[in-house]
Amino acid sequence: GLLKLGNEPQARFGPTGCVLAARFADSLGDIRAFEVRDDDVWVVTPPKCGTTWTQEMVYLLLNDLNYEEAKKAPLYKRSPFFEYTRFAPKEIIEEEMDIDTLEHATTLPSPRCIKSHLHKPLLPEQLWTKKAKVVYVAREPKDTAVSFYHHYKLLSGYTGDKDFFFECFYEGLVEHSPLWEHVLEFWKIKDQPNILFNTYEEMKEDLPAVVQRTAKFLGKSLTEAQLTRLVEHLDIKQMKRNPATNYEDLFTKAREEGRISDDQAFIRKGVVGEGRREMSPEMAARFDERTRRVFNEAVGGCPWQI
Ligand code: A3P
Repeated sequence: GLLKLGNEPQARFGPTGCVLAARFADSLGDIRAFEVRDDDVWVVTPPKCGTTWTQEMVYLLLNDLNYEEAKKAPLYKRSPFFEYTRFAPKEIIEEEMDIDTLEHATTLPSPRCIKSHLHKPLLPEQLWTKKAKVVYVAREPKDTAVSFYHHYKLLSGYTGDKDFFFECFYEGLVEHSPLWEHVLEFWKIKDQPNILFNTYEEMKEDLPAVVQRTAKFLGKSLTEAQLTRLVEHLDIKQMKRNPATNYEDLFTKAREEGRISDDQAFIRKGVVGEGRREMSPEMAARFDERTRRVFNEAVGGCPWQI
């Protein structure tokens, strides 16, 4: 069966078979018909690919580098996780938030920075008819799986075996699976003018270059001093201790009750190559083979050198 976060039954949605709670079916109509604005920027990613990092970057670029405003509210309020309350486990939502994320998005002033993990065919139809922009972020599949394993432990107290989790991830049984098809759908349209395709690895390798590229995509320009300050603000150490980006307020209860330990946090290690270290050589080879097959062999290009 599907490896669940929480206790709700899950189902597959759309042509790519995106795994989400079955109750998401009730919201698919609202989501597809959601009113997109021309000046929206959507940060679309599979989970654990650098979403939070990218949201903070995009939020600041869209808001004239207003660090004061960025400090005032947690990122999930400034840049809502579009579909979240329509699929997330009810027990987690009850603990975390009292808003409907879809409705919250409608109340935000323009320009909005909206986060979504939905596969391309499930996103609002107007995303493709309005002038809205999409900043997509992908991360190497082995590393994504490792990060997601820690996320499952943090959020649902997953206590299973690490190898079993990787097996489930590979088989497309974890939430938002299958990863490869999620990325492929955006890789195919990466050269369209309203799409920017970034990778976690590029951000790690040369954040100033990614910030510059993203700023240009959004029609903004930065001075050297502005760039330096933004890159410092986006450093993992800063984001870890910044209450407006570290999501710590969502874990207060779990921490108090000792359900998560002191060293577990939403922003974790932030390094490249964890998959190679955490997976068995056999599992790593299976992931790599699939990545080559889905990208290099099928479409003649790949976001990573595998
Ligand atoms: P790890 O679990 O590998 O540490 P998302 O925001 O999509 O859930 O992605 C979470 C991943 O991005 C985690 O990876 C997290 O540590 C990492 N991350 C968050 N902020 C970061 C930053 N400022 N720099 C580098 N990595 C960051």
